[in-house]
Amino acid sequence: MARITASVYTSHVPAIGAALDLGKSGEPYWQKVFAGYEFSKQWLRNNTPDVIFLVYNDHANAFSLDLIPTFAIGCAAEFPIADEGWGPRPVPAVKGHPELAAHIAQSVIQDDFDLTIVNKMPVDHGLTVPLSLMCGQPAAGKFAWPCPVIPFAVNVVQYPVPSGRRCYNLGRAIRKAVESFDAPLKVQVWGTGGMSHQLQGPRAGLINREFDAAFLDQLIAAPEVLAQKPHIDYVREAGSEGIELVMWLIARGAMNDNSPKVAHRFYHVPASNTAVGHLILENT
Ligand code: DHB
Ligand code: FE
Repeated sequence: MARITASVYTSHVPAIGAALDLGKSGEPYWQKVFAGYEFSKQWLRNNTPDVIFLVYNDHANAFSLDLIPTFAIGCAAEFPIADEGWGPRPVPAVKGHPELAAHIAQSVIQDDFDLTIVNKMPVDHGLTVPLSLMCGQPAAGKFAWPCPVIPFAVNVVQYPVPSGRRCYNLGRAIRKAVESFDAPLKVQVWGTGGMSHQLQGPRAGLINREFDAAFLDQLIAAPEVLAQKPHIDYVREAGSEGIELVMWLIARGAMNDNSPKVAHRFYHVPASNTAVGHLILENT
């Protein structure tokens, strides 16, 4: 049977993708960000899974205000890189895993979570920046991501957004689905977005280090308590885009019930307008 081996959590700041794509990763400002991922790139080389289930949010690139799925699972064989206004990022297209994605959709929908099935979807910085941070920048022409990726898009852009509690319980349903897939696959679940940031309005630039540290502590040690935090607390304390953090609870819910091993923890301010947070948790 398939099993979940580890979960990875990281912010997805688009300027990180631009820094990599424009060759600025050696600049002192960006070095402080990328230093936090040196361990992680080696860790992923040592612990390459068969499939990554990547929880992220689309930023009105695949979905517009015309159609807003709360939870959308990518079941295609391939996902092109979205053009967010400056041309697609020069990174490889994402190969999916249609068999596992279809199985998870079947299992999770029968467990009462209404997923939208997506068979055609470009993926934006919400998905590609975490891959770049963890895998490094492609060498021109001869690079593919290390394994298939199932994109799982969550609406945290347009209200109403799903609660942390629902996200956590959905993670548990995803774990059950993976563990009932009849192939010996090692699967990682990644939760992305956050940490505290607000991009618009009078509070633009808001960073709340205390909130972020407490969130990381609770995500590791008391996720079921963290899952009770209402959406409005994220927005008030972590900024309007801090609500992206509920996606981390999906990945955490997919982990075993016993305490995980904290393989890596990193926090840095700033990257663009955002606090960057990053965790790697291994199932024990
Ligand atoms: C920024 C952060 C985001 O999460 C995002 O989606 C867009 C911009 C920023 O910090 O600039
Ligand atoms: Fe974002």
